Amino acid sequence: MIVGIHHTGLVVPDLSAATAYYGAAFNLRPVLQYETSSNREADARKLFGDIGTIKVAMLAGENGFLELFECTDQAPSPYQEKPVNEQGITHVCIQVGDMDSIFEPAVAAGARPIADPLDLGTGNLYCYARDPFGNITELEALPIADKSWAPWLAHVSFSTPDIGPMADFYGCLLGAEPRARIQLSNNPKGDALTGLRDVAVKGAWIMTGSFQIELWSYEHPRTTPRETPVPLSAPGWQHIAFEVENIEAEVHRLETAGHSFMTGIMGNGNALYTYLRDPDGNAVELIKFSGDASSFSLSARPNHQRVADVEARVRG
Ligand SMILES: [Fe+2]
Ligand SMILES: [Fe+2]
Repeated sequence: MIVGIHHTGLVVPDLSAATAYYGAAFNLRPVLQYETSSNREADARKLFGDIGTIKVAMLAGENGFLELFECTDQAPSPYQEKPVNEQGITHVCIQVGDMDSIFEPAVAAGARPIADPLDLGTGNLYCYARDPFGNITELEALPIADKSWAPWLAHVSFSTPDIGPMADFYGCLLGAEPRARIQLSNNPKGDALTGLRDVAVKGAWIMTGSFQIELWSYEHPRTTPRETPVPLSAPGWQHIAFEVENIEAEVHRLETAGHSFMTGIMGNGNALYTYLRDPDGNAVELIKFSGDASSFSLSARPNHQRVADVEARVRG
C-alpha cells in the first residue's frame, strides 16, 4: 500500500541558502542532513550520473517533506527560470488560511512572485513564486482553512504533453482515479498567474494518502515532450517519493503491471528505497521506513491528515 507522497526532490546550487529560504518562507525545518557520493554504488550512478559528492537536507513540514540536494563537485547552475508549461515537475504547492502569513515572509526571504496573489474565481488566492534559484513554489490561501494553521503541503504539480498516460500510471500506483478534471482558457488571470500568454490548459488531480498530485497539460503554449529523461542531479524539481508500507510487495505489484524499475532496492535496514520512471520520464521513488527511521514516516508528522481535513471542510 502507498502511504502517501513523502517528499519532492529539489536540486539547488547552495544547500544552506536553500534550507534558510524554505525555513523562513514556509516553516520547513531540517530534520536530517548528510553527505553522500554518487560514485559509491552503481545504482546511485545510474540515477545521478558520475557527479561525486552530494549534500542532502530533508526538510519537514506539517504533513510531508522536501529533499534538497547540492551536487558540490559540479559547477553551480545559474539562476534558471523554466516556464510552467515545460514538461516535468513544475512546482510544489504550499497552502495556508491567510496569504499574508506566507507571501510576505517568502518575499522577504527572496521569493520572486510571477504575479501578486490573485483570485481565479474560486475565492482562493493563488501565486506562483520563484525561489532564489528560480524554482517555483505555488502559494495558495484557502478562506475555508483556519488562519492559525501552519503552512502545509497541498500538491506536487507536473506539466505533461498528455494527461492520459500520466493519470493511468499514478492511478495504478495509488489505486485511485483522478478526483477532478478541469479546462481553462481565455482567462487573463490565468495568464498573469503563469506568466504565459493565451493559456489553454487541462488539469486533473489525484489524491494520495498525504497530499495530491496535480497534472496540467498546456495546449497553449503547448507542453512539448522532452527528448530524454533528466538525471536526478539536474537543477530543479527532479523526483517525487512515495512512502510505502511494504517495498518488496509494491515492486512486485508494479512489475506485474508492466513497470520496470531503474534500480534494485537500496539503503540500509531502516530506510529502503528504489526508483522507476513515470511515462514522462520523471523519476519516482518508493521509500519505506522502519525501526530507528520511523520518525521520518508521514504518520509521525503533526498534521499528516491536513489535506483530507481541508477536503472534508470543502465538501461540508
Ligand atoms: Fe498547483
Ligand atoms: Fe528522495
